[in-house]
Amino acid sequence: MPLQTISPDGAVAVATGVGELDRVLGGGLVAGSVTVLGGEPGVGKSTLVLQALASAAVQGRTSLLIAAEESGEQVRRRAGRLEAAVDGCYVLATTDLDAVMSAAGQLEPSILVVDSIQAVSDRACTSQAGSPSQVRECAGRLVRYAKTLGVATVLVGHVTKDGGLAGPRTLEHLVDTVLSFEGDRHHSLRLLSASKHRYGPTGEIGLFEMTEAGLRGLVDPSALLLGDRRRGVPGSIAVPVLEGRRPLIIEIQGLVGPPMSGAPRRVAQGVVGGRLALLLAVLERRCHVAVAASDVFVSTVGGLRVNEPAADLGVALALVSAVTGIAIGEDVVALGEVGLAGEIRQVPATERRLAEVARLGFRRAVVPQSSPEGPVALELLRAGTLLEAVRLLLGVVPAARSGSRTGSGGGPELSGSRDVRTLERTPPSLVS
Ligand code: TYD
Ligand code: MG
Repeated sequence: MPLQTISPDGAVAVATGVGELDRVLGGGLVAGSVTVLGGEPGVGKSTLVLQALASAAVQGRTSLLIAAEESGEQVRRRAGRLEAAVDGCYVLATTDLDAVMSAAGQLEPSILVVDSIQAVSDRACTSQAGSPSQVRECAGRLVRYAKTLGVATVLVGHVTKDGGLAGPRTLEHLVDTVLSFEGDRHHSLRLLSASKHRYGPTGEIGLFEMTEAGLRGLVDPSALLLGDRRRGVPGSIAVPVLEGRRPLIIEIQGLVGPPMSGAPRRVAQGVVGGRLALLLAVLERRCHVAVAASDVFVSTVGGLRVNEPAADLGVALALVSAVTGIAIGEDVVALGEVGLAGEIRQVPATERRLAEVARLGFRRAVVPQSSPEGPVALELLRAGTLLEAVRLLLGVVPAARSGSRTGSGGGPELSGSRDVRTLERTPPSLVS
């Protein structure tokens, strides 16, 4: 067919009513589309789909949940906590794909959720439930069914520790949309993102808080992430990171000291280990901050994983603050990638991040020399190098010293270093 004769309006997204889910989907679930919802066990997949089904049912859309891992009673108990036991929401507890098909054929739901795809099996396929061929076979049948009858279908899938959809990555190209649900088991923050979406862009992120009464959309996530921040403690700084298109302000903490036993330890929680090693090398070799012989711990607060280089400057400054014992002002954020020469480089979406920083009431931001202008309420401390950033923010100038420990110099000494170097204070007016 000539391309321009085809109507572009085939796929209309219908909101599920779970705001953060709809945001990630670019409006909602499309009739006839198939979505995989992946995540580690316990992250809250069953909770999220049940809330979505119930909320769609409230809007008058018949919804069917295939509970392949739980009994109807278990689902009902969860629904009680979530206030999801509503009219129009149906459950079938089965692992048999034929039973799924006949129930769906009878009910003709507008949303069908299979929880999980690894637990159902097709009798025609002899391999075990959860095996790659079984999962592929079942998903294939469900995809054909969804396309033929125009049912918005969601397949819940467990993800293994290494991040792959257990068994078949094959699922990912069979379906229209791949969502991943992430979060640290020990924290309440949950992040929903799309790695593939045939009906819209993939940059949007959904944020939830897991509460006693299920998942609650987070309107102001930074408030949750910064809520328990302590003032005046060295080794802490706020950093605007980007999750999808969304800026989030998180706290990064560092702790540095003499090794507690044997060789120095490096522990990175929520920060990429290789990135931390690189920053330590730059601090040691370019900024004369002796960390080589020290134990170093870095952690993001709230269980969020940061893997963008934009957090480099924040991590490095938190560590220098920890080493010197000089606290960084609570109204300060840092933003920039640190290069091996000790230079600070610009990062994507600086304006968007700085806007969020200003919205939350921060006053100062340490940024690369080339950074675009920020909101007027925000004072930009431009630094070309990490050394310069340290001077601007902490009011100290780390300097290479030859010779042995003299104990003089007036500045705080770097602990945990065999190769003793000192810091010199610059005029107090610059001290934060
Ligand atoms: P669940 O949705 O069963 O996870 P998944 O299907 O991904 O394995 O929920 C996981 C955890 O969430 C469970 O251990 C308890 C917790 N939870 C709450 O904190 N509040 C709630 O309202 C619900 C339903 C669960
Ligand atoms: Mg589950």
